Amino acid sequence: MCGIVGYIGNREATPILLEGLKRLEYRGYDSSGISTLVDRSFKMSKQTGRVADLVRLASKDRVSGTLGICHTRWATHGGVTKENSHPHISFDGKISLVHNGVIENYLSIKKFLESTGVEFQSETDTEVFCNLIAYHYAKEDESSPTRFLDSVRRTLKHIEGTYGIAVICADCPNELVGARKGSPLIVGIGEDELLLASDVSAIISRTTNVVYLNDGELVSLKDGKVNLTTWDDQERTPDIQQINWDIEESELGDYPHYMLKEIFEQPEAVTNSMRGRFSDDRSSAKFGGLNISPQELRQIDRILFCACGTAWHACLVGEYLIERYARIPVEVEYASEFRYRNAPLDKNTLVIVLSQSGETIDTLAALSEAKRKGFRTLAINNSVGSTIAREADGGIYQHAGPEVGVASTKAFTSQLTILSMLALYLGRLRDLSYQEGIEYVDALEKLPNLIGETLKINDAVLKVAEKYKDMQDCLFLGRQDMFPIALEGALKLKEISYIHAEGYPAAEMKHGPIALICKECPVIVLATQPDIHGKLVSNIQEVKARGAPIIAVACESTPLPDDLVDDQIIIPDCHRSILPVLASIPMQLLSYHIANLRGCDVDKPRNLAKSVTVE
Ligand code: M6R
Repeated sequence: MCGIVGYIGNREATPILLEGLKRLEYRGYDSSGISTLVDRSFKMSKQTGRVADLVRLASKDRVSGTLGICHTRWATHGGVTKENSHPHISFDGKISLVHNGVIENYLSIKKFLESTGVEFQSETDTEVFCNLIAYHYAKEDESSPTRFLDSVRRTLKHIEGTYGIAVICADCPNELVGARKGSPLIVGIGEDELLLASDVSAIISRTTNVVYLNDGELVSLKDGKVNLTTWDDQERTPDIQQINWDIEESELGDYPHYMLKEIFEQPEAVTNSMRGRFSDDRSSAKFGGLNISPQELRQIDRILFCACGTAWHACLVGEYLIERYARIPVEVEYASEFRYRNAPLDKNTLVIVLSQSGETIDTLAALSEAKRKGFRTLAINNSVGSTIAREADGGIYQHAGPEVGVASTKAFTSQLTILSMLALYLGRLRDLSYQEGIEYVDALEKLPNLIGETLKINDAVLKVAEKYKDMQDCLFLGRQDMFPIALEGALKLKEISYIHAEGYPAAEMKHGPIALICKECPVIVLATQPDIHGKLVSNIQEVKARGAPIIAVACESTPLPDDLVDDQIIIPDCHRSILPVLASIPMQLLSYHIANLRGCDVDKPRNLAKSVTVE
């Protein structure tokens, strides 16, 4: 969850590190810090609060030097205090370290180090890590040129848990060391400089040449060279990969928030998700990286989706789409549950994991568990080169562009688009006719324009938001494929406006949540499907009879009577395969405007982080 950047080169490290850190702030933002090496001692600034405050502090503290590390934190062990923020410096002033992950056996190591006289300054597992390196460093042969690296390697043998680390040593002004196990770490190869980071976005302004570390690897960046080894000191030749991100894609531009920018980028994002992915006869979809043949796919008799959060909601939509168009039974699991559940699975099950970041630890663990059991696995994700993308047998990249806002928007609709295409592809391998395929492709090709049309509701949604911004509770109702959209609407509202919200299948409301209905609890009803319109009207009547204000989302050709609803947002008519995408847009805009009107920090909601890389 935390963000890490390290720098070694000829230039002043601080501005480069802090610029990278700003781009990583979405990973966590409780506190932040930087340490550099000058004349064999560390210069350090750290504080609770945002990176913008750290920039001022580091300038005041005159943090300088050409070697340094920095960190933005999402607290796991220990509260949000200056002492607990990273970097940490070892008891003897020799080692400084930043860490992303959780050390599970830190208490026993701490006890041991305390018995040797080490005093701790913080409550963190990271300080234990840092001091254990210093402990081993003191014991290594002083004349060895690899003394520092060896002390890190020795430490890793005693560490249980997950980590991505960047470490510097007071005696080694020419060396920056990194290691990973379960938390991402990449090396950036720039001009006369090398960088370490937990995420490509931190270094993209300096280089597009990167090396991904694998779990169990260490890297020493020294004298312009990248020396990659495993725990047991096996060398690996660095495989340099080119990142094709455009830096402007991750800039805010004229928008006040990334979330709003990303909502408005959706026509382009889904265009990129679909680009080059239709069959020549335009009756089906095609995907380059599945690594599974049409013959093998025809043998699949069940699909299991695993994901977390918004990606899990996308899977629920995928279930409706694939069952409807491909007639393959689908199950959806929370990745965090699947990994420990030992669910019996049929041998012809295809396991598909979804993750925007490709680094969510629970989703990664679910993928590993599925692979360990011998299932074919696919990953749908938005981050080229991410751990999940590299671990899965095959996959589909979303190509939605970088998503910075913590609340996922364009990544979600891009996932829905890809799932819709996958349903088409699997359907065409089975019983979906050529003519149905042609109509389906036609609908998908219209999607970017229809999203553009739907975004015109922005002003109308703002008015609705002004009316309801002070509510304390809110219910979202939908049926069939609109149920996951109701769940997603409720999640969006909760995470950025802190209003209590719940998503429910509209008819299920009678079995409990109806007790919550009162005039202070507005109800948002996704009344978009013509085939069940009558049923939805009945559900709305039930709510209306109990006095709750009703905000309906309806399609152009099936609006609801004005006397039935208090407010109505109209979206364009469309093919059922893309309706979930269009219906998501009012959900996104409503939560954005409500959060903004309430003065919430839309892009960095409290307690959250964009990428959840700890369990
Ligand atoms: O990167 P992932 O798609 O694996 O992330 C999964 C969830 O953490 C994520 O969707 C989260 O729920 C978002 N904050 C939702 O807006």
